[in-house]
Amino acid sequence: MTLYSRVRPLAFALPPETAHDLGKRALRAAQSTRPTRWALRRAYRYDHPALEVDLLGHQFPNPVGVAAGFDKNAEVTHALEALGFGFAEIGTVTPYPQVGNERPRLFRLREDEGMINRMGFNGQGMERVKARLETDGVPDVPLGVNVGKMNTSSEEEAIEDYRRVFDRLSPFADYVVVNVSCPNTPDSFDESSPEHLRAVFETLEAENDRDLPLLVKIGPDAPADSVRELVDVVVDLELDGIVATNTSTSREGLDSPERDEWGGLSGKPIEDRSTEVVRTIAEHTDGNLPIVGVGGVDSAGSAYAKIRAGASLVQLYTGFVYGGPATASRINRGLVTLLERDGFRSVEEAVGADLE
Ligand SMILES: Cc1cc2nc3c(=O)[nH]c(=O)nc-3n(C[C@H](O)[C@H](O)[C@H](O)COP(=O)(O)O)c2cc1C
Repeated sequence: MTLYSRVRPLAFALPPETAHDLGKRALRAAQSTRPTRWALRRAYRYDHPALEVDLLGHQFPNPVGVAAGFDKNAEVTHALEALGFGFAEIGTVTPYPQVGNERPRLFRLREDEGMINRMGFNGQGMERVKARLETDGVPDVPLGVNVGKMNTSSEEEAIEDYRRVFDRLSPFADYVVVNVSCPNTPDSFDESSPEHLRAVFETLEAENDRDLPLLVKIGPDAPADSVRELVDVVVDLELDGIVATNTSTSREGLDSPERDEWGGLSGKPIEDRSTEVVRTIAEHTDGNLPIVGVGGVDSAGSAYAKIRAGASLVQLYTGFVYGGPATASRINRGLVTLLERDGFRSVEEAVGADLE
């Protein structure tokens, strides 16, 4: 029995957001001194040469990262590295602090191994995040920064929001993601229209002196044809990759009593749908566009399915909540076994193995 399997019933007896905040506090305490950070690393971190991924101009020690939303304000990046994640994505960071939606706004769907959230871009804003990154320093694994807009911003203001967050936080970033796919913020305009994407990315590119990789994060709910159209825009704009996917508005096949809460669905119930989006992108680009696969990853098998469908890296949030601190090392160890079983020398060799 692992420690987390004993702690989890206690944590799950608390409201989800309270448990999340407590978990983050514990991680922040653990990363705050050298000996505790070292102890975490010794207990959890797992490295293996077959797991290394060279992508977006960086060396990722393994392909398993933490998805945006878990560490919105860059409070626990060092603890996440010590727990064995190969990279972390902070944010979504907005220009100013934002309270988000009213609580409760995060729900566990235990029977479905999922969650529904309607956080609504709550966060401390870019200045606090910048100050923290300056004080704490960046982790030793690649750091993604997910940039967002204020909920009240018009289409034009949104472009300026992205530009400002990019300007403040890009010095700390190894890649930047523009999140145009949050299903629980008010949308007064179409954030993924080609015109809007062009305006956003041309603005960011004009500020991008360090030539940082720019990616866009898309949702899981669009039909394959729309995904392909969006990919054409991404290729046309010469973006560096796609993060697929965000949470879903679908409620198909759920058993949990909380299934009727509004917001974005994550975890096991969206796994296959997200993998399909990864596959659609990879097929449409002949595997030439870097893809970060996210949605329902909670095991070596689910990470491997995304990799074989065309993802070079994967991320998780819900699987980490259900799986606890050993999640990254468990997935990474399992991945090495699966690669060996199938005769691949590395993760990189397995990317897209299932494509025709
Ligand atoms: C509580 C919660 C908050 C999230 N916040 C963000 C966010 O701020 N920005 C973002 O791009 N994605 C956010 N996400 C989406 C995740 O990054 C991820 O795309 C999605 O949850 C699917 O992955 P999972 O099934 O591993 O959770 C959030 C997800 C959850 C559960």
